[in-house]
Parts: sequence; structure tokens; C-alpha cells
Amino acid sequence: MNAPLRPGKKLHIKTYGCQMNVYDSERMTDLLRPLGYEVSDTAADADLVLLNTCHIREKAAEKVYSEIGRLKEMREDKLARGESRMTIAVAGCVAQAEGQEIMHRAPAVDLVIGPQAYHQLPELIARTTRAKGERLAADFAPDAKFDALPNDREVSGPTAFLTVQEGCDKFCTFCVVPYTRGAEWSRPVAQILDEARGLADKGVRELTLLGQNVNAYNGVDSNGQSTLARLMYALADIEGIDRIRYTTSHPNDMGEDLIAAHRDLPQVMPYLHLPVQSGSDRILRAMNRKHTRQAYFDLVARIRDARPDLALSGDFIVGFPGETDKDFEDTLDLVRQVGYASAFWFKYSPRPGTPAAAMPKQVEDAVMDERLNALQTLLLEQQQSFKAGLVGKTLDVLFEKKGRYGQQAIGRSPYLQSVFVEDAAHLMGQIVPVRIDAVGANSLQGSLV
Ligand code: SAH
Ligand code: SF4
Ligand code: F3S
Repeated sequence: MNAPLRPGKKLHIKTYGCQMNVYDSERMTDLLRPLGYEVSDTAADADLVLLNTCHIREKAAEKVYSEIGRLKEMREDKLARGESRMTIAVAGCVAQAEGQEIMHRAPAVDLVIGPQAYHQLPELIARTTRAKGERLAADFAPDAKFDALPNDREVSGPTAFLTVQEGCDKFCTFCVVPYTRGAEWSRPVAQILDEARGLADKGVRELTLLGQNVNAYNGVDSNGQSTLARLMYALADIEGIDRIRYTTSHPNDMGEDLIAAHRDLPQVMPYLHLPVQSGSDRILRAMNRKHTRQAYFDLVARIRDARPDLALSGDFIVGFPGETDKDFEDTLDLVRQVGYASAFWFKYSPRPGTPAAAMPKQVEDAVMDERLNALQTLLLEQQQSFKAGLVGKTLDVLFEKKGRYGQQAIGRSPYLQSVFVEDAAHLMGQIVPVRIDAVGANSLQGSLV
């Protein structure tokens, strides 16, 4: 019998927030695997539980504390069963924003680690198992983080996230990201291409490039400073990389070469997440978004000129301080004029330390609810009608996973909707033309042509 060199330890990671956290969680798993950690789907039997947290809205941050409470009970049950002690670590943006408070408010936590310090995780985990209560104030040196991540990534299927940029210099007055993720910083092109080649070798066909302000990407290459468009041309040259997406973009960073790439580079998918937050010039100014409503209209027109079938997605905030009925009407009007294939909508949530939290005329919750409802109704209508417009068309679908029934497979259209197809389980990892037959609530149904 072959006994393992090291007894397997179980790691459970719970990820909140944006795709950048999803990417970080995958990379933390890659870092911990050589230490003998295997991923477990449940927390109850884990030796190490890592909460990768989000601070963007109050609800997101509060979830962490209730989760820590649950974990504390699981740890006690585990000890009562005579099993090893569970280490509880908090990573991500709550760790960065309120590390000290976590240690104070939740003594059950063994380790707090900010998003720029993940490369130190193996060492810190080793230390906490000896002495409890290590706390790390991350130092905003993302280069050290990326340099130290292992080259070998485990992949799960034909799509992968790839972080190319971190941080934000925009300082929208409602947002914590510039404080939790630090200043804008871009990974060097060569490092990204290496990672992408490794992914392609393992069968990845679609990359989603990530950054808080991904279209502000300006990493170094052999000719000086690259742009996101230039990076995408280099990525498209890699054998096997057939699809490229990117998120999230700020309207002010949509360069001409990036718009042109939507027209000229077939690997760039016809989908763009381009948050506008509000349709009112007054509110846009108070948010420090640094562009007008008209500038957004003009930009969208130029992008659609380059790629007429582009599916546009957005983020919206209702109830920003001082938002009147008229301001909100302007948002609805902007949505009607632009037309979104998908969108996210949020109630404004005051975040400690941000300028907007101290602004007068905070909007009443009941008013926010009403506005959110109206906006949601409109955006859902648009989403459904975008999907309905695809019925009868033939779209290239990249099959990602098996469906629940028989030989059903699920893939993604170029416009990012999930597509369910019968008798397609043998096509996993392939891009195949599919005729769209019907629209579901969150998906499309199609058949092989
Ligand atoms: N970098 C991206 C998104 C960052 S956060 C961008 O600039 O658009 C994702 C979304 O959360 C934002 O687009 C915004 O719509 C929402 N959001 C951020 N802070 C918020 C707050 N304090 N209250 C409510 N929604 C917020
Ligand atoms: Fe936040 Fe604005 Fe930066 Fe987006 S651009 S991360 S909303 S500060
Ligand atoms: Fe949340 Fe941090 Fe992402 S605050 S949205 S996890 S950058």
C-alpha cells in the first residue's frame, strides 16, 4: 500500500464578491496545494477555511461575520469528534479594509491577510498553526504577489479568468475599491502571456481578462508600454485561445485601439460590461465618474459602429445621496436609449471612509426600493428581449460542462448567455454552431446544426 508522504489536509475556500476574488481563490489553492492541502466542498471537515471576502456593500461585509460565527461552531464540533483544529483565515477586501476590527470583533479568526499579500500565505499558515493571531497589513505591492504565484495553474474546463490589472485610481465617491485594492497596477505582458500559454496547453479556449479597471491596462512589453488592445492581439496569437473577454471597463478608458479590436480581432467576443452607474449628469458629477451622460451615449455609438451586434452590460446604483425623482428618471431614460443585454443593479450602500457616506440628503430606503424595482423591471425586459432576438439564429457555443439530464451540455454564446443543448455531452471544450430554439429565464435552449 502506498501511504501518502504527508497526510492530506483539507482546504475549504468560500469566495464572495467579484471575479478578481474568484481568480485569487484559485491562485491561493494553487499556492497551498504543494503544502498538502486538497480542496473540500464543505467547511465542516476542513483543516483550513479561507473566507475570501468583499467589502463593496454593507451586506457583503456583514455576511463575513455571520459566517465566522458558523465556522466557530464547526470548529468546536470537529474538536469534540477528536479531529484536528480548524484554522480560520480571512482574506480579500474586508481583510484589507478592516483587518484590525476583524481580530477584535471575531477572536475565532486565526489569520487576516489582505489581497496583495497572498504570496505570503504558505508561510503565514505555517506560523498560525504554531502561534495564533497573526495579522497582516497588506503592503500594496502586487508585483511581489504575482511574481511569487506558481506558474502551474489547475484548470477546470475550457474557460479561465486571468487577472491582468489590479487596483483603481478613479475614486468614485461611493466606492471602497481604491482603498481595498490600492493604486492601478498592470502585470507585465510577458508574465501574462506565460500564464495564458500554460492555460492553453491545458485546454483553455476562452480567457476573461480581469482588472478593476481592466481597460486602463498599461503593462510593459518589449516596445515599452502596452495597452489592453495590444495585449489582446498578443494573446490571440496563442494557439488554442479562441475567445477573449475582459471586465470591468471604465468608460473613460475605452481607447480607440480597443474599440477597433472589437471590429478587427475575431477572438474578442461581442460583449462589453461598461458600467455607467447613473444617467443623471448631476449624479455622475457627484459620483466623480468624470464623464457626462452624452459622452457615454457617444462612446456606445462608436463601439456599436465598430461591432454592431455588441451585447452591452452595465452596473447601476439607485439612491446615491441627493438623487431626486428627476435624476432617477434620467437613469431610466439612459437605459431605454442604450439598451442592455444584461445588467446589475444595486441600492446605494454607504461605505465607511468614502466621501459619499458623509454627503447630505441620503435617500430613504423605501424610495430606493421603489427605484430599484422600476429599474430592475426595465432591465429584465431588455434582457429578455435581447435573448428573444437570438431565437432562430445560429451562434458559436463553447461547451463548458455537462447538463443535469442525459447527454445535455451547457455552453456559452458569444454574448455570454448560457445555452443548453441536448446530445452534446461529447462536445465538451469545443466551439460548435448551435441554432437557438427558445429562451429560458436565465438561459437559451438550442440544438446542434
Ligand atoms: N470597477 C468597476 C466595478 C467595481 S464594483 C467599475 O468601475 O464599474 C462593482 C459595482 O458595484 C459597481 O459598478 C457599482 O455599481 C457597485 N457599487 C460599488 N460601490 C457601491 C456602493 N457603495 N453601493 C452600492 N453599489 C456599489
Ligand atoms: Fe470603484 Fe469607481 Fe474604481 Fe470602479 S472606477 S472600482 S466604481 S472607484
Ligand atoms: Fe468586492 Fe473587493 Fe471585488 S470589495 S467587488 S471583492 S474588489
